[in-house]
Amino acid sequence: MAKIAELKAREILDSRGIPTLETTVTLDDAKKATSSVPSGTSTGIHESVELRDGDASRYQGQGVLKAIENVNTVIKKNLLGLDPARQTDIDQLLVNLDATKNKSNLGSNAILSVSQAVCKAGALAFNLPVYEYLQKKYQLHKDSPAIPTPTFNVINGGKHGAGNLDFQEFLIIPSTRMTYSQALQTGVEIYHAIEKVLINHSAIHSVGIGGGFAPNLYKNADALELIIEAIRTTDYKYGEDVFLGLDVAASHFYKGGKYKIKDRKEPFSTKDFIDYYKDLNEQYRLYSLEDPLYEDDWKGWSELTREIGANTVIIGDDILTTNKERTLKGIEEKSCTGILAKPNQIGTISQAVEVISIAKDANWQIIVSHRSGETNDDFIADFAVGVGAHYAKFGAPARGERVAKYNRLLKIESEIAAKTTEQKSQSRKQNQQ
Ligand code: PGA
Ligand code: ZN
Repeated sequence: MAKIAELKAREILDSRGIPTLETTVTLDDAKKATSSVPSGTSTGIHESVELRDGDASRYQGQGVLKAIENVNTVIKKNLLGLDPARQTDIDQLLVNLDATKNKSNLGSNAILSVSQAVCKAGALAFNLPVYEYLQKKYQLHKDSPAIPTPTFNVINGGKHGAGNLDFQEFLIIPSTRMTYSQALQTGVEIYHAIEKVLINHSAIHSVGIGGGFAPNLYKNADALELIIEAIRTTDYKYGEDVFLGLDVAASHFYKGGKYKIKDRKEPFSTKDFIDYYKDLNEQYRLYSLEDPLYEDDWKGWSELTREIGANTVIIGDDILTTNKERTLKGIEEKSCTGILAKPNQIGTISQAVEVISIAKDANWQIIVSHRSGETNDDFIADFAVGVGAHYAKFGAPARGERVAKYNRLLKIESEIAAKTTEQKSQSRKQNQQ
C-alpha cells in the first residue's frame, strides 16, 4: 500500500494569464504526481467557489496564495500517511475539512488540486494510466475503454470572444461513427477552412479564449451559416460527417427576465426564445444545445426539452454545475438530456464521478469538459475516457492547452488499440493450444 509522504502546492498561470494552483503529491517510494486546476470565465452561480486572494497589489486580486497556504498546511497535515487509492475517503475528508456547502473556506481550487493530484498518485501507485485506473476503480463503463467523440468549439462569442457575438460557443461535432483520430482530423480541417471563409468575408477576427475564432458578424445565426459554408469547401458532408452544436451560455445575456441578443431588436421572453430555438433547429438540425436558457429557469428548460429534446441533446452546464442535488432535480424535471461534467464546478474527483454515474443511470449523454482557463495538464482527457464519457469538449483544436488534451486522447487511442491487438493474439494462441 502506497502512502502520501508529501503534499505541496505552488502558484502557476493558466492560459488566460490568471494564477492557479499546481499541486504535487509525493508517495513514500518517492514517486511524484503533479496536477494543476483549470478555471472558468463564464462560471455558473451555483458552482463551488475558488479562493482568490483579493489582494489588489498582486495580479489584480486574482492570486491564489491563500489557497496554496491551505494545501500546504491544513490539508497536508490531514493527508500525510494516507493511501492515495482511497480517493473517495480523501475527497470526503477534504469536504469535511472545508465544512462549507460551496467549498469557499479552503477554496474549490485548493481542494480540486489535491483531489486531482491524489488521483494521479493513486494511478501511479498501481502503475496504471489514469484512464484505466479510474475505469477499474469506479466501473462506470463495463466494456473496453473507448475514446469520447470530440466536440470542437470553432467560433467563440459571449464572454469567451473579443468579437460581437452573444452566443459563447459554436461547435462542430464529427459523426460518432468515426474513430477518434478521424474525428480529430475532421475537426482540424474544418477549423482551418473556417479561418479561410472568415478572411474571405472580411469578418475581422481574433481568437477567443477557447481557441475558436471570434469574428464580428451581423447575427449569431450568421456564424452557423459561415461554418456550413466552410464545411462545403471540404470533403466532409454537413449533416452526415459533421454536425453543429451551440453553447449559448444564455445566463450572460438574461436581464430582467428577458434574453437580449443581436439577432432581434426586441428582447425575447422565455416562450419566444424557445420558439426561436425551434426555428433555428428546423433550419440547422442542431445536434446539441448547451445552456439555452437561464441557469435557474427550470420550467423553461423542461419545456424546451419537451419540444426539441428528442432529436437534439439538451446539455445542462450552468443549470447543473456538476452538482448532485441539481442533477437529481434536472432528472426529475426532465430539464435536459445531457450533462456537461466539469470536476472543478464541484471540486473533487469522486463527487464529479458520482454525478456522472447518476446522469448515466438516467440515460443522459455525458460530455466531459475543460474550462476556458486551462493549463497544459491533460488529466481531463484521461478522466473523460475513465468515466466512459460519450463526448469530450476541449475547445478548438488549436492552442497548446487545448491541443494537450486532444493529443492525450490520440495517445490513449493508440494504447487501447495496441492492447486490443495483444489480447486478440493471446486468445488466438490459447485457441490453437
Ligand atoms: P467556462 O466556459 O469554462 O468559461 O465556464 C465553458 C462552458 O461554458 O462550457
Ligand atoms: Zn457551457
